[in-house]
Amino acid sequence: MYLHCSAVFLVLSSVVYAQPASPEWQTAYAKANATLAKLSLWDKVWLGTGVGYFFGKCTGSTPGITSINFTGLCLEDSALGVRNVDKTSVFPPGINTAATFNRTLMNLRGIAMGQEFRGKGINVQLGPMMNMMRAPASGRAWEGFGADPYLAGEGAYETVKGVQSVGVQAVAKHFIFNEQEHSRMSSSSNVDDRTTHEVYLHPFLRSIQANVAAVMCSYNQVNGTFACENNSTLNGILKWELGFQGYVMSDWVATHSTGSVTKGLDMTMPGDIFPGSLISFFGLTLDLAVVFGAIKQYYVDNLARRVLASWYLLGQDSGYPAVNFNSKNAGSSDNLHVDVQGNHGSLIRTIGAASTVLLKNTGKTLPLAAPPSIAVIGSGAGPNPSGPNGCVDRSCNQGVLAQGWGSGTADYPYLITPLDAITNRSAVDKTNVTSSLSDSDLNAAAAAAKNKSIAFVFITADSGEAQYTVEGNAGDRNDLLAWHGGDALVQAVAAVNNNTIVVVNTVGPVILEAWIDNPNVTGLVWSGLPGQEAGNGLVDVLYGVYNPSGRLPYTIGKSIGDYPAQIDTTSSLSTVQIPYAEGIFIDYRHFDASNITPRFEFGFGLSYTTFDYSSLSISGSISSNQYSTGMGSSLDAMLHNPAITVSFSLRNSGSTFGHEVAQLYLTLPSSANSAPYILRGFDSIPLEPGQSKTVTFTLSRYDLSTWNVVTQRWEVPNGDIVVTIGASSRDRRLRGTISN
Ligand SMILES: *[C@@H]1O[C@H](CO)[C@@H](O)[C@H](O)[C@H]1NC(C)=O
Ligand SMILES: *[C@@H]1O[C@H](CO)[C@@H](O)[C@H](O)[C@H]1NC(C)=O
Ligand SMILES: *[C@@H]1O[C@H](CO)[C@@H](O)[C@H](O)[C@H]1NC(C)=O
Ligand SMILES: *[C@@H]1O[C@H](CO)[C@@H](O)[C@H](O)[C@H]1NC(C)=O
Ligand SMILES: *[C@@H]1O[C@H](CO)[C@@H](O)[C@H](O)[C@H]1NC(C)=O
Ligand SMILES: *[C@@H]1O[C@H](CO)[C@@H](O)[C@H](O)[C@H]1NC(C)=O
Ligand SMILES: *[C@@H]1O[C@H](CO)[C@@H](O)[C@H](O)[C@H]1NC(C)=O
Ligand SMILES: *[C@@H]1O[C@H](CO)[C@@H](O)[C@H](O)[C@H]1NC(C)=O
Ligand SMILES: *[C@@H]1O[C@H](CO)[C@@H](O)[C@H](O)[C@H]1NC(C)=O
Ligand SMILES: *[C@@H]1O[C@H](CO)[C@@H](O)[C@H](O)[C@H]1NC(C)=O
Ligand SMILES: *[C@@H]1O[C@H](CO)[C@@H](O)[C@H](O)[C@H]1NC(C)=O
Repeated sequence: MYLHCSAVFLVLSSVVYAQPASPEWQTAYAKANATLAKLSLWDKVWLGTGVGYFFGKCTGSTPGITSINFTGLCLEDSALGVRNVDKTSVFPPGINTAATFNRTLMNLRGIAMGQEFRGKGINVQLGPMMNMMRAPASGRAWEGFGADPYLAGEGAYETVKGVQSVGVQAVAKHFIFNEQEHSRMSSSSNVDDRTTHEVYLHPFLRSIQANVAAVMCSYNQVNGTFACENNSTLNGILKWELGFQGYVMSDWVATHSTGSVTKGLDMTMPGDIFPGSLISFFGLTLDLAVVFGAIKQYYVDNLARRVLASWYLLGQDSGYPAVNFNSKNAGSSDNLHVDVQGNHGSLIRTIGAASTVLLKNTGKTLPLAAPPSIAVIGSGAGPNPSGPNGCVDRSCNQGVLAQGWGSGTADYPYLITPLDAITNRSAVDKTNVTSSLSDSDLNAAAAAAKNKSIAFVFITADSGEAQYTVEGNAGDRNDLLAWHGGDALVQAVAAVNNNTIVVVNTVGPVILEAWIDNPNVTGLVWSGLPGQEAGNGLVDVLYGVYNPSGRLPYTIGKSIGDYPAQIDTTSSLSTVQIPYAEGIFIDYRHFDASNITPRFEFGFGLSYTTFDYSSLSISGSISSNQYSTGMGSSLDAMLHNPAITVSFSLRNSGSTFGHEVAQLYLTLPSSANSAPYILRGFDSIPLEPGQSKTVTFTLSRYDLSTWNVVTQRWEVPNGDIVVTIGASSRDRRLRGTISN
């Protein structure tokens, strides 16, 4: 599954040229070099300059160059679907995609999203997002793939592969350490070198392995220098150490200087210094800086070469559709209303079901078997009274919650509510459905729930990007509690109904302690943010059409204080310093290392069937003196060299077809000072009742290594390495040792 692509590097002064050896990039660079020779300085500068916030039809646009038939680039949000236009789909965001632990679905979603971007004439999709869920209340973490770097890396890799397979450029974002919304433009994330490498860089490395065309640098500072003008992170780590071949664009107005071009920034977005300023740090300013000798010409050649190479890499020089909408004005005559949805609704429904995590199922209440009556309770089961797109960029929490808010959203073509889907399905069994959609009228809720065979209570928790404050939450959540008094709603229903099933639509962890042990709460279904088919995917799981196989992509703790990192809400005129003091111990690594019992652990999720694990075997060998210099081809070779093969037998011991998400965790020797268990493998394996399969995971030397900050290379630690195979980060079934 790894694409082989080794690279050689040449450093001149501080311009980092990538000299690609992979055939795809080689061809793209040869074409880019030939084209570059035909361009003026002005042309080259504008290859890396957006036309300005208020101009162009897309979130960002670059001008065309007619002499080379370059029509300019259209860059458009978001990471879950095309933003600000009609006849497109709302896919489940990264967090639910991660919860599938299923690479096929991650990839198919990427392909389907890519088709929609291409169909609208968009060259560049501004996604995937791969910042880590470091603090559980982090506003935009739902756009990404959760709290484990390996899982996020696989999500990033498969998404980039999928999007780019249909000729759309993907963007790995936000580089780097953009893990909260508060003070995102005025804070410095201060992160040690080992944590940088072992946690936050990994998804970007996997994106580069997938040949990602572009990387977006983030708003925040890194150790006191803005991420978009930090030579160590952009030229040093990204382009030199990881061998990134594409171009770096700024987040919107995250460029702070013309000199950024010498630090590794290749494109400034949206182009103007601030919206409407009509002046850019690049454009004319950069042109003059080169003319007057303040900035060397080769920096501009380098950015132009990189932008062109990515354009050629994706084949966008031949037959790419023209932009057929206007993201800045959906109602304008530029919008040809091209329907790009295909049959993506069906994939969205499948991902919705496959990302649903069953957390509690006392007495096998689920799947439903023709219950005589059902009560559906809570606003989260119904529609948004203002319509599914009633709030700009989804900046409200009304009705079923199927995406967060901010620029990482898209407009719903339709949104299936749980109430509609349950009502429709219930007709088959002649089940009587009663509802009470008020969150605050506890008497109405109890009245609806009383004497019903089952009472579903829908609770929610929302978050998003900092430019909107929703119900007092300025992007990041204020706490981890259910919104709208959700705990009281559950308690009111459970007081009168001994078969209460709670459904949670949320951006991240929610504290459940108020009622989770109440014996009347017989079910807990984690629906997350399932996208436009929300109700249908849920019903598929409730009725057993889809046997649940989703797993938590983060830990659900018993209190917010159990988590190792919190949102820093300091408000200051000077730079807010955010030390990542927990280091490599984020999420479950901290719960494990500090012996804190979570409510539900990372990787956990129930099924309607059961699975047996047996016959672990480990083959291959490592020698501890093998290491990588940590750069380019050497790192690449280390990644592609499988050292160890781990196999075991998995059997469906129940009576229902289903998928087991088997997980591999490593325990490194204590000298490595690593977390007790680190995820290094997973698969979603389909099994018929009684069927057995041999499951195989391979581990490269990189997988077995830690980053040595002194030698600046990946090294396999000395000592035996323990391999654990299990059904979650704490449900450990098989154990073996790699002798070292
Ligand atoms: C493109 O040009 C650069 C700069 O001259 C050079 O280093 C590189 O080898 C060239 N690449 C290809 C594939 O021609
Ligand atoms: C631009 O496109 C035209 C029409 O397809 C073609 O004749 C011409 O050769 C192209 N020029 C370049 C530089 O590719
Ligand atoms: C992933 O999910 C799909 C859809 O449920 C399923 O067909 C497939 O078996 C799963 N596992 C893998 C590895 O693709
Ligand atoms: C940031 O500073 C820390 C502490 O001084 C250091 O360990 C780390 O390497 C720095 N980060 C980078 C990317 O240089
Ligand atoms: C860039 O960031 C690193 C930390 O990643 C820091 O040590 C360095 O001082 C910053 N500044 C520059 C100019 O690279
Ligand atoms: C920028 O980073 C590159 C790559 O690590 C390095 O070769 C160069 O010396 C750095 N430039 C400055 C000004 O620090
Ligand atoms: C209603 O349910 C039936 C069967 O359960 C299904 O075929 C139909 O597509 C559903 N309608 C909607 C609008 O979901
Ligand atoms: C269905 O529920 C409604 C409202 O509670 C009730 O009036 C009606 O009698 C019920 N019908 C059946 C068939 O149980
Ligand atoms: C609930 O059911 C019981 C017994 O079936 C019945 O006596 C009672 O009236 C019902 N209560 C309501 C509110 O329907
Ligand atoms: C559970 O529900 C029953 C009604 O079915 C009620 O009588 C009882 O008090 C409830 N128990 C709790 C702990 O709320
Ligand atoms: C739940 O309550 C119903 C009556 O409302 C009763 O028939 C049933 O036995 C109770 N179930 C449990 C598990 O207590």
